[in-house]
Amino acid sequence: MTATLHKPVMLNEMLDWIAPKDNGVYIDGTFGAGGYSRAILRAADCRVFAIDRDPSTHRFAEKLEQEFPDRFVWLLGNFSDMCSLVAMHGVHAVDGIVLDIGVSSMQLDVAERGFSFKNDGPLDMRMSDEGMKASDIINTASEGELADIFYYYGEEKMSRRIATAVVAARELAPIERTHQLAEIIRKVAGGQKGKTDPATRSFQGLRIYVNQEFESLENGLKAAEDMLAPGGRLVVVTFHSLEDRIVKRFTHSRCGKLGEHSRHMPQHQADSAGWDAPRFFLPKPEKRLPTEAEIDENPRSRSATMRMMTYAKAGERA
Ligand SMILES: C[S@@+](CC[C@H](N)C(=O)[O-])C[C@H]1O[C@@H](n2cnc3c(N)ncnc32)[C@H](O)[C@@H]1O
Repeated sequence: MTATLHKPVMLNEMLDWIAPKDNGVYIDGTFGAGGYSRAILRAADCRVFAIDRDPSTHRFAEKLEQEFPDRFVWLLGNFSDMCSLVAMHGVHAVDGIVLDIGVSSMQLDVAERGFSFKNDGPLDMRMSDEGMKASDIINTASEGELADIFYYYGEEKMSRRIATAVVAARELAPIERTHQLAEIIRKVAGGQKGKTDPATRSFQGLRIYVNQEFESLENGLKAAEDMLAPGGRLVVVTFHSLEDRIVKRFTHSRCGKLGEHSRHMPQHQADSAGWDAPRFFLPKPEKRLPTEAEIDENPRSRSATMRMMTYAKAGERA
């Protein structure tokens, strides 16, 4: 099956917030098919360092490398390592960072990548080509571990029953294919109400676990804080509530919204009490959702949430 080219989500809203300027330097931490990078490069005479952990995305980078040879650099790696990745190019502070979290349409559509229960393929699910595959986890993790993965990363209420069924099935034969796993889950969870396939949540949980997505996001946000120059801007687009909660918690803790009293406390007292100094300003509203028109045109955007923030300038308090 050929993959659909990934359509960037909330592209105009991202550009509005990042507001690329001439001579600016930007990081696109989730390059994918390069929609965000291309838009930033076209908006101003700026430089973009684009990171993706998936080596197959380099084919999209090649076009931008030709079009913008002095202004565009593609880097293979995890955005949580953005500081060291761009430091290799002599860059230690940037004017804007964009993170468009999750999987791309290309990753989902190619059966061999093993992300989708719709297309049968090997149970892989790795965005990079390193680390444990989903099949390694499904065939070796304990019943309790599997239940936790489905519950905590997939919010699957029937996690325990699904884990029991997986363990019973793998005793008969290893589970190596996406359709094999989806059928096992559907037999247990098929009675759930709604239009969503019963395998959706467990597949999401497994994918997040395989790619350690929450850890990457938490570390990526901290790295973004270290990389942004004063006044620099951050945009994070997430696709489900668990990820959005991580971003919201981070931004609120960095703008003084968590621990209300720390906002009014002299900074030296807040520091000695161990509170993080407020380092980000949040706009009002602090998040944006896709328009109805975008959802009609690109249904994948339906579950997107965009959060925006500005790194505080020296001496300013959020
Ligand atoms: C939703 S797509 C991004 C689409 C992109 N904005 C565009 O316009 O084409 C997410 C991409 O981020 C990559 N990715 C996800 N988590 C990552 C991480 N922690 N580090 C680097 N790349 C990551 C995935 O491999 C995928 O290619």
